[in-house]
Amino acid sequence: MPGRSELPVVVVTGGSRGVGLEVCRRLVNLGFAVVLGSRDLRRAEIAAKEIDPDGERVTPCHIEVDNSVNIDALGEWVKERFGRVDALVNNASTAPDLWAMGGNTDLSPVAEALDINLFGAWRVTQALLPLLRSSPRPRIVNVSSEGGSIARISGGRPAYAVSKAALNALTRMLAAELYRDGVLVNAVCPGWTAQEGGNAGGRTPAQGAASVVWAVTIPNGGPTGTFTRDGRELPW
Ligand SMILES: NC(=O)c1ccc[n+]([C@@H]2O[C@H](COP(=O)([O-])OP(=O)(O)OC[C@H]3O[C@@H](n4cnc5c(N)ncnc54)[C@H](OP(=O)(O)O)[C@@H]3O)[C@@H](O)[C@H]2O)c1
Repeated sequence: MPGRSELPVVVVTGGSRGVGLEVCRRLVNLGFAVVLGSRDLRRAEIAAKEIDPDGERVTPCHIEVDNSVNIDALGEWVKERFGRVDALVNNASTAPDLWAMGGNTDLSPVAEALDINLFGAWRVTQALLPLLRSSPRPRIVNVSSEGGSIARISGGRPAYAVSKAALNALTRMLAAELYRDGVLVNAVCPGWTAQEGGNAGGRTPAQGAASVVWAVTIPNGGPTGTFTRDGRELPW
């Protein structure tokens, strides 16, 4: 028997740690039912328990954005389990080439980054779009990076930069295509944020998550096709 959630439902990819986990925490507190995705279901379960010990509002889920079989199944599963999706946060990401240069880089990490950072977000969006279109308040948030701002690309990290620039292009395209359906599609950058084992001294994940939560919670008729951090526009 298919379920139907009374609460608005948000799907967050890469929700097991860092910015994604904080986004889940904030959205639960704002009254969302949260589908918390990770490539590893066990990690998703541990993260879900951390922010929702009673298991009432956060549902852990195996989401592997570079696996189209898994993402097709996700669409069916969410429909069966919740009957709705109101927001999608495409947060899952990889940055495989911190020290590479575009002129001589091995293209394998570039292909990997495109598969996760661009096609991953694209796949999940396509899988959930029918449900999003039926929502009274549909939102898609692509978690991008100023490192993908074409205006500011200055060399280095080619896989990450090019894949995030492409994610920004996808954001603009979908925002235009889905405008008439009321689906607001925005890209945000959380800023330089501390991670497990990296970016020490950066923003806290909670600070990074604020830009994402803003884009999930904007009202109907609000901005679409924007690229922002802390509510301020970034150059494309
Ligand atoms: N941290 C920063 O300074 C910074 C700056 C600008 C932009 N951003 C962006 O903000 C977002 C969050 O950053 P973060 O630092 O919190 O990230 P992170 O700690 O590196 O976490 C990345 C997340 O992506 C998930 N992931 C990786 N590959 C995946 C795949 N194939 N399928 C599904 N999930 C996958 C991981 O989940 P599992 O390992 O559990 O599967 C993990 O939860 C990213 O989009 C990042 O590019 C971050």
